[in-house]
Amino acid sequence: MSLLRVGILASGNGSNFQKIVDESEKGELPAKVVVLLSDRSDAFVLQRARNHQIPTYVVKPRDFSSQEEYEEKMIEILNQHCVQLVVLAGFMKILSPRFIRAFKDKVINIHPSLIPAFCGKGFYGMKVHQAAIEYGVKISGATVHFVNEDVDAGPIIIQKAVLVSDDDTPETLAEKVHRVEHEILPEAIRLFALGKLQIRGRRVIVKE
Ligand code: GAR
Repeated sequence: MSLLRVGILASGNGSNFQKIVDESEKGELPAKVVVLLSDRSDAFVLQRARNHQIPTYVVKPRDFSSQEEYEEKMIEILNQHCVQLVVLAGFMKILSPRFIRAFKDKVINIHPSLIPAFCGKGFYGMKVHQAAIEYGVKISGATVHFVNEDVDAGPIIIQKAVLVSDDDTPETLAEKVHRVEHEILPEAIRLFALGKLQIRGRRVIVKE
């Protein structure tokens, strides 16, 4: 069976990136990471990609005269690598409708909360866990969803919850959430690769 060609966009540490690459290399995922794009030249994820001989590109918005040109560059790179699925794995920039349309129903994102809680503009990375702890929720978790033209609002593919305990801090909650992210993001890629995901309005049906 041919492997799904995955392009990953990431801004930081890249533990989700690593998990996908590891599962793919072990033959546990019908997918192959063919390119990594980052908006930050100091992102550790770049090193992780180089360790696995995966081509990397740093594409920074400020190096372009407009958002359009910046995204055009990313679209060009992803197309050069014949990417069939774009995975946002800790990518901290918001993509315009133009980018999303270029890869319609082929962009997925991992978000570190149970959407629709603690999501949307301004909720990313540790800010999400800080907000969850401050609010006092007893359950948080992670969500993988298709990306549409609204921030963190596309159809949900998988969610998994974690319990928040009284002594959790944003840091310990982030660790718990990362553990479930590392399960559900590869699983969502697997389902996509196997053609099992069907979008029906706001819902994603997982076919048998
Ligand atoms: C993950 O928790 C991911 O859900 C979050 O950034 C972290 C990246 O971790 N993404 C967002 O907040 C996007 N809005 P990683 O670099 O170790 O994969």
